[in-house]
Amino acid sequence: MSRPSFASRTVLVTGASRGLGLSIAEAFWERGADLFLVARCEDALAAIASRLLQQCPTQRIGFLSVDLSNKGAAERIFAQLRDFTDRLDVVVNNAAILGPIGPFSTNDWAAWENTLQVNFLAPAAICQVTVSWMQAGGVILNISGGGATAPRPFFSAYSAAKAALVRLSETLASEVKPLGIRVNCIAPGAMNTQMNTAVLLAGPDLVGEIEHRKAIEHGKVVTPPEVPAELAVYLASDECSAVTGRLISAEWDPWRNLHSRGQELEESDIYTLRRIVPEDRGFEWGGEAPQ
Ligand SMILES: NC(=O)c1ccc[n+]([C@@H]2O[C@H](COP(=O)([O-])OP(=O)(O)OC[C@H]3O[C@@H](n4cnc5c(N)ncnc54)[C@H](OP(=O)(O)O)[C@@H]3O)[C@@H](O)[C@H]2O)c1
Repeated sequence: MSRPSFASRTVLVTGASRGLGLSIAEAFWERGADLFLVARCEDALAAIASRLLQQCPTQRIGFLSVDLSNKGAAERIFAQLRDFTDRLDVVVNNAAILGPIGPFSTNDWAAWENTLQVNFLAPAAICQVTVSWMQAGGVILNISGGGATAPRPFFSAYSAAKAALVRLSETLASEVKPLGIRVNCIAPGAMNTQMNTAVLLAGPDLVGEIEHRKAIEHGKVVTPPEVPAELAVYLASDECSAVTGRLISAEWDPWRNLHSRGQELEESDIYTLRRIVPEDRGFEWGGEAPQ
């Protein structure tokens, strides 16, 4: 795996004010990219921009305070982005919220809907505008995770949105391949960010004993955000030009040499969401499908 350069390329990162989004932004910055950062907290974005520019005044950095809860957020972002640059190479949809925690039947419906808005509809809208802009190719990375590939009780809005984001990414990847646009998802792994703190604070009664115990463990043994950030840079690099439509786990998949598997990926459904049939689990239930 070489160390890719993103000099004179522009990378948009949502949720860049802290946590994984900040690590991803820093990883691209270290490799020479110009950045456009999005989150709600303008002060945090301004402080990050100022710090990074001190480190490297020759690169460019723009930012926008925007709430992805608002429909029309994508249009606002791109209106501002077009003033900042005329080229867009990489988009990282990272911002997300946990949403309502606890039994689905008791979740506040407005909070449930808002979680789908922030975690799925907003990134979907950003993908749509991105595709219409990236006519000369580019890379979209959608941050998925907990609940996309397995049920996550008491986090129904969060997990439903994350699963939807993966399927959208798979679908979009096929549609936009002829345009030279690649779309992949990253499952970053358990990180000790504010999201984990929120699970701890919610307590075992609301999140369940297992989830709460996991959150305590994540407070001690975690994936450093730098690892999924490195995966983001790798997937965005030209080296990975044959990798698209996949969900890659930063924590569990041996991804550092993935670029050498381009053809096998293309010819298979490896690292995608699929339905499991009995044979996949070693059963032979027999019987015939109706048709
Ligand atoms: N932490 C984990 O263990 C874990 C595991 C699997 C997947 N993930 C995923 O990794 C990504 C990053 O998570 P994290 O742990 O870094 O979370 P985090 O520390 O809570 O950061 C979330 C980021 O999203 C921004 N954000 C939240 N709501 C927003 C809104 N309505 N509009 C615009 N920006 C908003 C926040 O900034 P402002 O508050 O300034 O708006 C912040 O920059 C998420 O997609 C998450 O689902 C995390």
